[in-house]
Amino acid sequence: MKVTVVGAGNVGATCADVLAHREIANEIVLLDIKEGFAEGKALDIWESAPIGLYDSRTIGSTNDYSKTADSDVVVITSGLPRKPGMSRDDLIATNAGIVKTVTENVIKYSPNAVIIIVSNPLDVMTYCAYLNANTVPNKVFGMAGVLDTARYRSFLALELNVSPKDIQAVLMGGHGDTMVPLPRYTTVAGIPVTELIAEDRLNEIIERTKFGGGEIVQLLGTSAWYAPGAAAAQMVEAVVRDQKRIFPVCAWLQGEYGMNDIYLGVPVVLGKNGIEKIIELDLNDAEKALLAESAEAVKVVMNVLDEMNANA
Ligand code: NAI
Ligand code: 2OP
Repeated sequence: MKVTVVGAGNVGATCADVLAHREIANEIVLLDIKEGFAEGKALDIWESAPIGLYDSRTIGSTNDYSKTADSDVVVITSGLPRKPGMSRDDLIATNAGIVKTVTENVIKYSPNAVIIIVSNPLDVMTYCAYLNANTVPNKVFGMAGVLDTARYRSFLALELNVSPKDIQAVLMGGHGDTMVPLPRYTTVAGIPVTELIAEDRLNEIIERTKFGGGEIVQLLGTSAWYAPGAAAAQMVEAVVRDQKRIFPVCAWLQGEYGMNDIYLGVPVVLGKNGIEKIIELDLNDAEKALLAESAEAVKVVMNVLDEMNANA
């Protein structure tokens, strides 16, 4: 199996490192536009193989997509974080330009690849990749829910002083403040979380989850990479090993949850064909309202991209 990670920055390099250490692919190509950067990161990861005892090969490339040819899965992490003085629309324009070019190059050399987007703003960058990938939507999807759910589960594990392994949860919606963690679908070793944590405390944990990305930015001055890189690698593993894992994934909705033509986080089955099924939960009215609010927020940003494309 061959996996390419575009963008050898914090998230991309971490993702490649996890893929190599866990031998999720035997060939991992790391590509970046910065001269020598991906080669350096790939070499550093390869030099840890005798210590980590893995034999996945890591190969670096400065913008040479021929090295990515015939990848089974491609993870796109290339993009800028928002800088001072930059509006959200500036960020969308810049990152959409990057994601468009990268997607076109990726598809040229790997027309059958499954593409996983990480670049922000996540939901709209996934839409941007889909518009330029010329492939089926089940092969173009975004990573956010695996990370956001991991944050939610990690906070619950701390609160209850139990292993994070025993916490299962569903979280839906866009990758932003309007994301929708669902206590009704959150269990601790099968026990409903609502039986273990008081409602007001659970609500505080949900609020912390919604702003989990911002909490790290405040501490580090830049966004997270260990958990995002590991989350993207877990999704790659589900595809490469045809695991049929159920994850919250930013997926193209065509009627599911009563929504159309929108990329939004929903539970799906991930396997060798990418998204093999979208799972439709029987949400109650309050949950439906929260999901609709989140979808509205995503639509606003998707419309910004559509307008930019129309005026281009
Ligand atoms: P970073 O700045 O460390 O790395 C980005 C890399 O992309 C840089 O090395 C840069 O040279 C490269 N790049 C830029 N343009 C390129 C192009 N045209 N072709 C190839 N490479 C190019 O940033 P970091 O921390 O790795 O974050 C990457 C993206 O992921 C950001 O947009 C960030 O907001 C997003 N992110 C998304 C998360 C999610 O949950 N979906 C979580 C964390 C980050
Ligand atoms: C995160 O959630 C900023 O999307 C990034 O860490």
